[in-house]
Amino acid sequence: MEILDLRHFSSVDLRPLLEDEIQLWARLLSWDYSASSEMILRYVDAKILPGYAAVDRGRIFGYSFFVYEGSKGVIGDLFVASDQRVSDPNEVETQLLTHVIETLQQSPGIHRIEAQLLVHDAGAVASPFVRQGFQRRARLFMVLPLGEPAKRAAHLDEEIEIRRWSEQDYQAAASVITTAYRGHVDSEINDQYRTLSGSLRFLNNIVRFPGCGTFDPEASFVAVHKRAHTLVGLILCSRVRDDAGHITQVCVLPEYRCHGTGESLMGATMASLRQRNFSLLSLTVTEANDRAVELYKHLGFETKRVFDAFMWEG
Ligand SMILES: CC(C)(COP(=O)(O)OP(=O)(O)OC[C@H]1O[C@@H](n2cnc3c(N)ncnc32)[C@H](O)[C@@H]1OP(=O)(O)O)[C@@H](O)C(=O)NCCC(=O)NCCS
Repeated sequence: MEILDLRHFSSVDLRPLLEDEIQLWARLLSWDYSASSEMILRYVDAKILPGYAAVDRGRIFGYSFFVYEGSKGVIGDLFVASDQRVSDPNEVETQLLTHVIETLQQSPGIHRIEAQLLVHDAGAVASPFVRQGFQRRARLFMVLPLGEPAKRAAHLDEEIEIRRWSEQDYQAAASVITTAYRGHVDSEINDQYRTLSGSLRFLNNIVRFPGCGTFDPEASFVAVHKRAHTLVGLILCSRVRDDAGHITQVCVLPEYRCHGTGESLMGATMASLRQRNFSLLSLTVTEANDRAVELYKHLGFETKRVFDAFMWEG
């Protein structure tokens, strides 16, 4: 086996492996990974996707890629085929990750690396990260079947109203995100939450690019203070399969918490999806974020997977 630069290959070489990966994402996460996979293949053909391929006699059976976001490197994916031709898939995963991590750590101007590998169980690919000095946080992938009607309606403070997300909410939403995550465990994991410009980039990625499903404006809402006309919370949802939604963001300003706003935002998203016959809703949450985890359990969400978020600063 050889580990080679991904830019030596074309979509023809990588496509069979991505077909396997699409099946894995469908099985483990109920996500349709085909749009993301087409995007990866386009970047591979353009020779602009940095990463590595594990190759044996001309056949690619594993790959990992990363992207540069200013002074940060984000590891986008890691996948190794699990058929009988690969005797030790975990060893291949470790080798691919070691190459990716070393490349990023040695890249001039890169001071931070982040990775969240949803289809890998917590601990399964941790060793190369831990060895290179990364911090690690457990995250939960939670799901709620939407077949049954809502358990209960949240009681919303009378000063607050929930209305649908609109393009004009961008700037105010970025400001709510930055304030909501100040000192929060999730801004250790994703440094975009720490600044207004970072939160705007986060929103732009979620709303305008198909990296994490396709943004679903009908199932995305904001909480507004009626008299002050200011945003106090928001929920964003994407479509990750024809009939499956995924909450990519939910937050409420600290001074407005514990008054049913978070639960009402969740309720609005769930109602919109149910009305359109979606069958499933998922989200990810940091295990240490007790309050949010409690809220989701309360609404009927169950933990389906536990995976790791890794971060390094140098
Ligand atoms: C998670 C978050 C969105 C919840 O928002 P919220 O508006 O506080 O949520 P709610 O008030 O609807 O519900 C939270 C809890 O407060 C309870 N609550 C509601 N009104 C209350 C009141 N007057 N007094 C005390 N508790 C109250 C709710 O019942 C619920 O508790 P329960 O689930 O044990 O029943 C909010 O804490 C937040 O923005 N956190 C930071 C960002 C974050 O972690 N987002 C999630 C990332 S995955």
